[in-house]
Amino acid sequence: MGSTIAAIILAAGQGKRMRSRLPKVLHPIAGRPLLVQVIRLALARRCAPIVVVAPNDEAVRSAVRAAFPDAPLRFAVQPRRLGTADATRAGLAAIPGHRGRVLVLYGDVPLLRPASLARLERAAGRASLALLTAEVDAPFGYGRILRQHGHVTGVVEEKDATPAQRALREINVGVYLCDAALLRRAVGRVRRNNRQREAYLTDVVGLAARGGGAVAVAADPTEVVGVNSRAELARAEAILQRRLAAVHQARGVTLRDPGSTFLSLDARLGRDVVLGPGVQLEGAVRIAAGARIDGPTVLKDCTIGAGAVVHSFCHLEGAAIAAGASVGPFARLRPGAHLEHGARVGNFVEMKKARLGRGAKANHLTYLGDAEVGAGANVGAGTITCNYDGGPIKHPTRIGAGAFIGSNTTLVAPIVVGERAYVAAGSTLNQTVPAEALALGRARQVNKLGYAARLRRRLTAREKR
Ligand code: UD1
Ligand code: CA
Repeated sequence: MGSTIAAIILAAGQGKRMRSRLPKVLHPIAGRPLLVQVIRLALARRCAPIVVVAPNDEAVRSAVRAAFPDAPLRFAVQPRRLGTADATRAGLAAIPGHRGRVLVLYGDVPLLRPASLARLERAAGRASLALLTAEVDAPFGYGRILRQHGHVTGVVEEKDATPAQRALREINVGVYLCDAALLRRAVGRVRRNNRQREAYLTDVVGLAARGGGAVAVAADPTEVVGVNSRAELARAEAILQRRLAAVHQARGVTLRDPGSTFLSLDARLGRDVVLGPGVQLEGAVRIAAGARIDGPTVLKDCTIGAGAVVHSFCHLEGAAIAAGASVGPFARLRPGAHLEHGARVGNFVEMKKARLGRGAKANHLTYLGDAEVGAGANVGAGTITCNYDGGPIKHPTRIGAGAFIGSNTTLVAPIVVGERAYVAAGSTLNQTVPAEALALGRARQVNKLGYAARLRRRLTAREKR
């Protein structure tokens, strides 16, 4: 025991100021719930055990379990929301044997860097409590740090502060590193004698300052935003987006308009990737070196190969685009869309669970669902795979390598078009086309010579009557 630091993450608050049905700590920034970010921070510092103090319903717990299926997390329930000291008490009850130090984090403070926590650990030294503070321009709503002769003497909450205290700009970040035994004793002594009738964890700072001393460590103002409202959520998102943009730029990614690019914490971008204005990345997106994504375009859970191009106004979800392939403009690729090397998808094409082989093309106005298209095949404008007959299963279409599907073809699945076969434009097909065959599935054209003039005469005669 002893040497490892346990973490208690407070996430049982109501989040009233969000005015949301979703628990506050599950609101995402850059695609990840606030609480997930905070847990990752504790994991990055190798805290063990990690206790999440959650409300008494499943939402928070199941979101955490889904994000960390293997991490050694414990949950504690705070039966009534009596304040942060009470929540900490509930967390401590889940680690009764822990003798070392405890790091307390708030589930709504998502932008901290592991390096700041490392500094806190180093600075703590022999003090019984160390806390992060920050000098901010807009301290409204935060607890203020009280000092005498430079030494921290306590924290006063906004609602309980005098006007002079409210003018202080050094705020309490909500990160504390404390000896476990001291913390147990101190949270037991906190009373709810304040404006909010809550047991404030911040009162522990005053108690520690009078005992073994409290050490303050300054953090960067961009790391300390606490999210209580939608406005603060947007502020945290903006800071995180700027931070992610800087990380990717440093690794050799061009963001043509960082202000309108939306990055995901789970995006991996290679060198010389170029993202245009209005590109939104959501979830796990992998973009290999030299690929170009013009904006505006949404990519969600996609992989894009080296040198591939996604033109403007595309929406891709769960798609895999191999190297040198090209998509759009105006394409919609749904889960299971797969373009092999050099394949091309053009404008107004939708694909779902469909594969385009090497160098295959579907350049205009096409729906490919539950389809396999062989290498080098050409899918003409207006081709539709009719995969759905209203029943429970979708029917497959297979188009062989080198096949040519003429424009405005309707392929009634299940159906197979053999290799290097031709399908005449305007066909409706519901039977196998053998390899190398020409399939015509349309009415034969009839020309009646001179008939146009007769028709005109007949129509004028009718008008005169
Ligand atoms: C808290 C601090 C304040 C600090 C600010 C930093 C206290 C009393 N005040 O204020 O000094 O500047 O954070 O962002 O600690 N929670 C529970 N159970 C409860 C109450 C809260 O689990 O009964 C959790 C919340 O889910 C939240 C965290 O504790 O994640 C902080 O609570 P919140 O009500 O947001 O505190 P603030 O008013 O922001
Ligand atoms: Ca808060």
